[in-house]
Amino acid sequence: MNKLIFCAMLAVALPLYSEARNAEYAGLAAKVDSLLEVMTLEEKIGQMVLLTSDWDVTGPTMRDNYVEDIRAGRCGNIFNAHTTAYVRELQRVAVEETRLGIPIMFGYDVIHGHRTIFPISLGESCSWDLEAIEKSARVAAEESAASGLNWTFAPCVDISVEPRWGRVSEGAGEDPYLGSRIAEARVRGFQGDDLSDSLTILACVKHFTGYGAPMAGRDYNTVDMSERWFREFYLPPYKAAVDAGAMSVMTSFNELDGVPATANRHLLQDILRNEWGFKGFVVTDYTSINEMVHHGYAVDDKDAACKAVNAGVDMDLQGVLYLEYMKELVESGKVSEKTIDEAVRRILMVKGKLGLFDDPYRYCDPETEKRIVYSEANLEAARDVARKSLVLLKNDGTLPIMKGEKVAVIGELADSERDLLGSWKAAGDWDFMSSILDEIRKYNGAENVLYAEGCKKYGDDRSGFAEALKIAKKADKVVMVIGEDWNWSGEAASRTSIGIPGVQSELLAEIAATGKPVAVVLLNGRPLDLSEESETASAILEAWYPGTMGGAAVTDVLFGEYNPSGKLTMTFPRTIGQVPIFYYNKNTGRPVYLPDEKYKSKYIDCSNDPLYPFGFGLSYTDFEYSDISLSSDKMDDDGCIEASVTVTNIGKMPGEEVVQLYIRDLVGSVTRPVKMLRGFEKVALRPGESRKIVFKVTPDMLAFYRQDMTYGTEPGDFHLFIGSSSADVKQASFTLL
Ligand code: BGC
Repeated sequence: MNKLIFCAMLAVALPLYSEARNAEYAGLAAKVDSLLEVMTLEEKIGQMVLLTSDWDVTGPTMRDNYVEDIRAGRCGNIFNAHTTAYVRELQRVAVEETRLGIPIMFGYDVIHGHRTIFPISLGESCSWDLEAIEKSARVAAEESAASGLNWTFAPCVDISVEPRWGRVSEGAGEDPYLGSRIAEARVRGFQGDDLSDSLTILACVKHFTGYGAPMAGRDYNTVDMSERWFREFYLPPYKAAVDAGAMSVMTSFNELDGVPATANRHLLQDILRNEWGFKGFVVTDYTSINEMVHHGYAVDDKDAACKAVNAGVDMDLQGVLYLEYMKELVESGKVSEKTIDEAVRRILMVKGKLGLFDDPYRYCDPETEKRIVYSEANLEAARDVARKSLVLLKNDGTLPIMKGEKVAVIGELADSERDLLGSWKAAGDWDFMSSILDEIRKYNGAENVLYAEGCKKYGDDRSGFAEALKIAKKADKVVMVIGEDWNWSGEAASRTSIGIPGVQSELLAEIAATGKPVAVVLLNGRPLDLSEESETASAILEAWYPGTMGGAAVTDVLFGEYNPSGKLTMTFPRTIGQVPIFYYNKNTGRPVYLPDEKYKSKYIDCSNDPLYPFGFGLSYTDFEYSDISLSSDKMDDDGCIEASVTVTNIGKMPGEEVVQLYIRDLVGSVTRPVKMLRGFEKVALRPGESRKIVFKVTPDMLAFYRQDMTYGTEPGDFHLFIGSSSADVKQASFTLL
């Protein structure tokens, strides 16, 4: 078929495309089917191939000339290429120089912003502000779509209780309920209501699945857990994202129960497609098909490709094994043409839904790019989300700093723009950004700010200590910005210790010994062991990697222009020895509150409690909670009760509080966690203002995988908790009849 005939086919399909969505998709399906009929096997396989451009490197490069691969119909999808000009050029090759002119889908890791960078995902999750998180994804979608992209490899919804694992920075923390709400918000933000809108992009839920639980926190390591634990604590955010409409899913690098996720039929067929009804396509992670040889699951590359496609993997990201072996596998009967057709159909349907068949260049308008990228509104949104993501962990009254106080700013990280962006900074630039130091100078007046590097982020050079001590002594207050280099979290950045690197804490101790109040600002991508710093510092502000507007956001909070409201979404341990530590643990048969001194579930050298629990975060004001009142202490299996509490701002500043609802099922056919988050509400209160918060409690909030693995409730007694963190709650009780 020549291009004219194909265009004529498109033209026939086009009117259908503008009718109501269902009719539209039926029309699209028919068009895709007729396209499949005329595609050669090679052309079909080309659609199952995703290659990187040479614009950005996020893993090994496998092909010399991806443009030639596009031209030859060997590659139907590209990632790591952006800007309207470049995307337009590659799209032109696909549309004008291949036989069928099928447009390319362009993907990129737009994880927490494209050009305007928002806080890392873990930081954003600490805002507990679903609207703000959705907005962040929306801005990322608009900026990337305006730069030619139509697909992001996000959201990352991996639950993790492993601070050693560097990729906790990319998720939403440890909790499946909060993680699910955030997953939905991000999918909504990226995809909007209409995938074909030229300012929305396709979401890709990753990494499917279990990737957040590598043994010993070592990236890519083996994952193994019971099906019950997996379904209850790890799977929910993936399901939530799929239910929210995400049309692509990325497999993970790890194995689960002995089978690599990239060839795991149980995950891809039983759960994803059959149980959840997922209709989009599945793409691998970077060369994860090839890696099945190293896993010891495939004898060679060809065998790996065969196993992946037969398990339900539609697209090979950068492995080039589908490209090399799929034709042979089909011809030898190891892979059926039906399997290939189904995979290609799913991919083409998404291309159609993105509007690429209507107009392959719809994402390539340079005027829109200019208007949207780094717009004032986007930068303002980034500052807003960044302020909301900061968590105040300690404050003896040192913060907020009064404007005009003499401030000594210390630390290499205080003067670094690059570190503010964290990992996966996409196409964000740091040249025009301002550091925390710049912003403090701007706000407080350069004459009131002294600066010394003091020491580097890592290494043992103490030669700058003397200068740092000198300026600290001259100041009213010290702001020390310490933490991890941006590259110390994210992919392939596991650590065996989670302390602050180098001699930064040693310098902090020396500065604190001068008696000057020291506010520590932390830049990091994981929960850290802050046992020592929590003693020496007068205040600690967890800033994560706060993004393009991070310098301004941190300054806003340090000087009280914004009252911090973030709450931790991962537990901070006292020591690495407590890891994994998370709030939804089980009680065990020998809980610490039993009278016996020795034979209890505890450590002999450390308490069980974390340093900072899940849900914890201070404010510059104080909130008081009244006792919980329940509309009834009995609930029918199809009923509902209301739990309410009154929260009052008893301090002097307006502030926001995240009111958290937890539930415990006291006895079950399988044991239940001591608490599970089941709801939350963020409220803004002026000084003296009170608000009654009402949570509807329904049976679905009490459901779990029972002993026979059916999902549902069991009658019995429950505790219900409402409070300001998982460790600071009021309690009530009710019975499910
Ligand atoms: C990462 C993914 C990412 C992909 C493409 C992989 O190494 O695990 O999260 O989307 O590269 O860059």
